[in-house]
Amino acid sequence: MRKPVIAGNWKMYKLLDEAVQTALALKPLVANANHCDVIIAPVFTALKTIADRLEGSNVMVSGQDCSTQNEFGAHTGEVTAGMLKDVGCSYVIIAHSERRQLYGETDESANRKVKAALAADVRPIYCIGELLAEREAGRAESVVETQLNGGLQGLTPANMERIIIAYEPVWAIGTGKTATPEQAQEMHGYIRRKVEDGHGRSVADSMRILYGGSVKPENIAELMAQPDVDGALVGGASLEAESFSRIVNYK
Ligand code: PGA
Repeated sequence: MRKPVIAGNWKMYKLLDEAVQTALALKPLVANANHCDVIIAPVFTALKTIADRLEGSNVMVSGQDCSTQNEFGAHTGEVTAGMLKDVGCSYVIIAHSERRQLYGETDESANRKVKAALAADVRPIYCIGELLAEREAGRAESVVETQLNGGLQGLTPANMERIIIAYEPVWAIGTGKTATPEQAQEMHGYIRRKVEDGHGRSVADSMRILYGGSVKPENIAELMAQPDVDGALVGGASLEAESFSRIVNYK
Protein backbone atom coordinates (compact mmCIF):
# COMPACT_ATOMS: atom_id res chain seq x y z
CA MET A 1 0.00 0.00 0.00
CA ARG A 2 2.84 2.42 0.85
CA LYS A 3 5.46 2.66 -1.87
CA PRO A 4 8.89 2.41 -0.26
CA VAL A 5 11.39 5.25 -0.62
CA ILE A 6 15.15 4.85 -0.70
CA ALA A 7 16.84 8.24 -0.43
CA GLY A 8 20.56 9.00 -0.50
CA ASN A 9 21.77 12.00 1.49
CA TRP A 10 25.13 13.01 0.08
CA LYS A 11 25.66 15.67 2.76
CA MET A 12 28.65 17.96 2.07
CA TYR A 13 30.48 15.50 -0.17
CA LYS A 14 31.60 15.48 -3.82
CA LEU A 15 32.66 18.20 -6.23
CA LEU A 16 30.48 18.58 -9.30
CA ASP A 17 32.31 16.17 -11.60
CA GLU A 18 32.30 13.34 -9.11
CA ALA A 19 28.69 13.99 -8.15
CA VAL A 20 27.61 13.75 -11.78
CA GLN A 21 29.67 10.60 -12.30
CA THR A 22 28.05 8.95 -9.28
CA ALA A 23 24.57 9.93 -10.42
CA LEU A 24 25.19 8.65 -13.94
CA ALA A 25 26.64 5.40 -12.61
CA LEU A 26 23.60 4.96 -10.40
CA LYS A 27 21.01 5.52 -13.12
CA PRO A 28 21.28 2.16 -14.94
CA LEU A 29 21.86 0.24 -11.71
CA VAL A 30 18.45 1.26 -10.36
CA ALA A 31 16.56 1.59 -13.64
CA ASN A 32 14.43 -1.46 -12.87
CA ALA A 33 13.65 -0.55 -9.28
CA ASN A 34 9.92 -0.08 -9.74
CA HIS A 35 9.22 -1.27 -6.21
CA CYS A 36 10.40 1.99 -4.66
CA ASP A 37 10.95 5.71 -5.20
CA VAL A 38 14.65 6.48 -5.58
CA ILE A 39 15.93 9.88 -4.48
CA ILE A 40 19.38 11.43 -4.19
CA ALA A 41 20.21 14.65 -2.36
CA PRO A 42 23.46 16.20 -3.65
CA VAL A 43 24.84 19.57 -2.51
CA PHE A 44 23.14 22.71 -3.81
CA THR A 45 25.82 23.44 -6.41
CA ALA A 46 25.35 20.06 -8.10
CA LEU A 47 21.54 19.98 -8.12
CA LYS A 48 20.84 21.57 -11.49
CA THR A 49 23.42 19.58 -13.43
CA ILE A 50 22.40 16.31 -11.82
CA ALA A 51 18.68 16.92 -12.26
CA ASP A 52 19.27 17.66 -15.95
CA ARG A 53 21.38 14.55 -16.44
CA LEU A 54 18.80 12.37 -14.67
CA GLU A 55 15.80 13.75 -16.51
CA GLY A 56 13.51 10.97 -17.72
CA SER A 57 15.03 8.46 -15.30
CA ASN A 58 13.43 7.06 -12.16
CA VAL A 59 15.96 8.82 -9.90
CA MET A 60 14.53 11.95 -8.33
CA VAL A 61 16.53 14.80 -6.87
CA SER A 62 16.23 16.43 -3.45
CA GLY A 63 17.70 19.46 -1.76
CA GLN A 64 19.24 19.05 1.69
CA ASP A 65 17.62 22.15 3.20
CA CYS A 66 15.60 25.20 2.20
CA SER A 67 14.75 28.63 3.51
CA THR A 68 11.85 29.34 5.83
CA GLN A 69 11.01 32.12 3.33
CA ASN A 70 9.24 31.65 0.04
CA GLU A 71 9.57 35.15 -1.34
CA PHE A 72 12.69 36.54 -2.97
CA GLY A 73 14.40 38.86 -0.56
CA ALA A 74 17.45 40.03 1.29
CA HIS A 75 18.40 36.68 2.90
CA THR A 76 22.07 36.14 2.10
CA GLY A 77 23.02 32.50 1.88
CA GLU A 78 19.48 31.16 1.73
CA VAL A 79 17.80 29.16 -1.03
CA THR A 80 14.01 28.95 -1.35
CA ALA A 81 12.12 25.74 -1.99
CA GLY A 82 10.86 27.35 -5.18
CA MET A 83 14.48 27.71 -6.31
CA LEU A 84 15.00 24.01 -5.64
CA LYS A 85 11.93 23.22 -7.69
CA ASP A 86 13.19 25.51 -10.43
CA VAL A 87 16.37 23.45 -10.85
CA GLY A 88 14.58 20.10 -10.85
CA CYS A 89 14.15 19.04 -7.22
CA SER A 90 10.97 17.31 -6.19
CA TYR A 91 11.99 16.78 -2.55
CA VAL A 92 13.83 18.59 0.21
CA ILE A 93 15.32 17.17 3.41
CA ILE A 94 14.29 19.32 6.37
CA ALA A 95 15.72 19.38 9.89
CA HIS A 96 18.34 16.70 9.46
CA SER A 97 19.99 16.10 12.83
CA GLU A 98 23.18 17.75 11.60
CA ARG A 99 21.18 20.92 10.94
CA ARG A 100 19.60 20.63 14.36
CA GLN A 101 22.90 20.02 16.14
CA LEU A 102 25.30 22.24 14.18
CA TYR A 103 23.15 24.99 12.68
CA GLY A 104 20.50 25.75 15.22
CA GLU A 105 17.53 24.18 13.46
CA THR A 106 14.51 24.03 15.74
CA ASP A 107 11.12 22.41 15.43
CA GLU A 108 9.74 25.88 14.88
CA SER A 109 12.09 26.75 11.99
CA ALA A 110 11.58 23.25 10.59
CA ASN A 111 7.82 23.81 10.62
CA ARG A 112 8.22 27.01 8.62
CA LYS A 113 10.48 25.20 6.14
CA VAL A 114 8.00 22.33 5.77
CA LYS A 115 5.26 24.84 4.99
CA ALA A 116 7.52 26.77 2.59
CA ALA A 117 8.38 23.55 0.75
CA LEU A 118 4.75 22.49 0.48
CA ALA A 119 3.79 25.92 -0.83
CA ALA A 120 6.43 25.53 -3.54
CA ASP A 121 5.22 22.03 -4.42
CA VAL A 122 8.39 20.37 -3.13
CA ARG A 123 7.88 17.36 -0.89
CA PRO A 124 9.50 17.62 2.55
CA ILE A 125 11.45 14.74 4.04
CA TYR A 126 11.13 15.77 7.67
CA CYS A 127 13.81 14.32 9.96
CA ILE A 128 13.38 13.48 13.62
CA GLY A 129 15.33 11.36 16.09
CA GLU A 130 16.70 11.26 19.60
CA LEU A 131 20.24 11.60 20.95
CA LEU A 132 21.92 8.69 22.72
CA ALA A 133 21.60 10.42 26.11
CA GLU A 134 17.89 10.92 25.50
CA ARG A 135 17.40 7.25 24.64
CA GLU A 136 19.40 6.18 27.68
CA ALA A 137 17.29 8.44 29.88
CA GLY A 138 14.15 6.74 28.55
CA ARG A 139 13.09 9.89 26.71
CA ALA A 140 13.36 8.73 23.10
CA GLU A 141 9.61 8.63 22.50
CA SER A 142 8.87 11.98 24.10
CA VAL A 143 11.67 13.67 22.14
CA VAL A 144 10.40 12.22 18.89
CA GLU A 145 6.82 13.17 19.73
CA THR A 146 7.84 16.78 20.43
CA GLN A 147 9.76 16.99 17.14
CA LEU A 148 6.86 15.46 15.27
CA ASN A 149 4.25 17.80 16.74
CA GLY A 150 6.45 20.88 16.42
CA GLY A 151 7.67 20.31 12.89
CA LEU A 152 4.31 19.28 11.48
CA GLN A 153 2.14 21.73 13.37
CA GLY A 154 -0.76 23.27 11.50
CA LEU A 155 -0.65 20.98 8.48
CA THR A 156 -3.80 19.80 6.73
CA PRO A 157 -4.41 16.15 5.79
CA ALA A 158 -3.67 17.11 2.18
CA ASN A 159 -0.32 18.59 3.30
CA MET A 160 0.44 15.47 5.32
CA GLU A 161 -0.03 13.29 2.27
CA ARG A 162 2.89 15.05 0.62
CA ILE A 163 5.28 14.55 3.51
CA ILE A 164 7.79 11.83 4.24
CA ILE A 165 9.08 11.34 7.78
CA ALA A 166 12.62 10.11 8.38
CA TYR A 167 13.33 8.65 11.80
CA GLU A 168 17.08 8.86 12.38
CA PRO A 169 18.31 8.09 15.88
CA VAL A 170 21.27 10.44 16.18
CA TRP A 171 23.40 7.76 17.85
CA ALA A 172 23.11 5.64 14.70
CA ILE A 173 24.11 8.31 12.17
CA GLY A 174 27.56 7.80 10.73
CA THR A 175 28.56 5.63 13.66
CA GLY A 176 28.17 2.21 12.10
CA LYS A 177 25.69 1.52 14.92
CA THR A 178 22.34 0.73 13.33
CA ALA A 179 19.21 0.52 15.40
CA THR A 180 18.12 -3.09 15.50
CA PRO A 181 15.15 -3.87 13.26
CA GLU A 182 13.11 -4.25 16.47
CA GLN A 183 14.18 -0.82 17.78
CA ALA A 184 13.36 0.74 14.41
CA GLN A 185 9.97 -0.98 14.24
CA GLU A 186 9.12 0.04 17.78
CA MET A 187 9.74 3.71 17.09
CA HIS A 188 8.19 3.66 13.62
CA GLY A 189 5.04 2.10 15.06
CA TYR A 190 5.02 4.79 17.74
CA ILE A 191 5.42 7.55 15.15
CA ARG A 192 2.58 6.13 13.06
CA ARG A 193 0.30 6.04 16.13
CA LYS A 194 1.17 9.66 16.90
CA VAL A 195 0.45 10.68 13.31
CA GLU A 196 -2.88 8.90 13.64
CA ASP A 197 -3.63 10.75 16.90
CA GLY A 198 -2.91 14.09 15.29
CA HIS A 199 -4.10 13.62 11.73
CA GLY A 200 -6.32 10.56 11.55
CA ARG A 201 -6.11 7.00 10.42
CA SER A 202 -5.95 7.42 6.69
CA VAL A 203 -3.06 9.94 6.86
CA ALA A 204 -1.22 7.59 9.25
CA ASP A 205 -1.79 4.57 7.02
CA SER A 206 -0.39 6.28 3.97
CA MET A 207 2.52 8.10 5.71
CA ARG A 208 5.89 6.83 4.57
CA ILE A 209 8.30 6.62 7.48
CA LEU A 210 11.96 6.08 6.57
CA TYR A 211 14.66 4.78 8.85
CA GLY A 212 18.10 6.42 8.78
CA GLY A 213 21.34 5.70 10.58
CA SER A 214 24.10 3.45 9.22
CA VAL A 215 21.88 1.75 6.66
CA LYS A 216 24.01 -0.53 4.47
CA PRO A 217 23.45 -3.18 1.80
CA GLU A 218 23.90 -5.76 4.58
CA ASN A 219 21.13 -4.50 6.86
CA ILE A 220 18.53 -2.98 4.54
CA ALA A 221 16.51 -6.17 4.01
CA GLU A 222 15.90 -6.81 7.70
CA LEU A 223 14.93 -3.19 8.25
CA MET A 224 12.55 -3.25 5.29
CA ALA A 225 10.98 -6.44 6.62
CA GLN A 226 9.51 -4.43 9.51
CA PRO A 227 5.88 -3.50 8.91
CA ASP A 228 6.25 0.19 9.72
CA VAL A 229 9.61 0.78 8.01
CA ASP A 230 8.78 2.21 4.59
CA GLY A 231 12.25 2.97 3.34
CA ALA A 232 15.59 4.43 4.26
CA LEU A 233 17.50 7.70 4.33
CA VAL A 234 21.07 6.66 3.63
CA GLY A 235 24.19 8.75 4.21
CA GLY A 236 27.61 7.11 3.90
CA ALA A 237 26.46 4.09 1.92
CA SER A 238 24.76 6.31 -0.67
CA LEU A 239 28.00 7.94 -1.78
CA GLU A 240 29.00 5.03 -4.02
CA ALA A 241 26.61 4.08 -6.82
CA GLU A 242 27.26 0.39 -6.34
CA SER A 243 26.46 0.23 -2.63
CA PHE A 244 23.49 2.60 -2.92
CA SER A 245 22.07 0.53 -5.78
CA ARG A 246 22.34 -2.59 -3.65
CA ILE A 247 20.29 -0.83 -0.98
CA VAL A 248 17.71 0.29 -3.55
CA ASN A 249 17.55 -3.26 -4.91
CA TYR A 250 17.13 -4.82 -1.47
CA LYS A 251 14.40 -7.14 -2.67
P1 PGA B 1 24.53 7.42 7.67
O1 PGA B 1 23.73 8.82 7.61
O2 PGA B 1 23.79 6.47 6.75
O3 PGA B 1 25.91 7.75 7.18
O4 PGA B 1 24.50 6.96 9.07
C1 PGA B 1 22.34 8.87 7.56
C2 PGA B 1 21.87 10.30 7.54
O5 PGA B 1 22.49 11.14 8.22
O6 PGA B 1 20.89 10.65 6.84
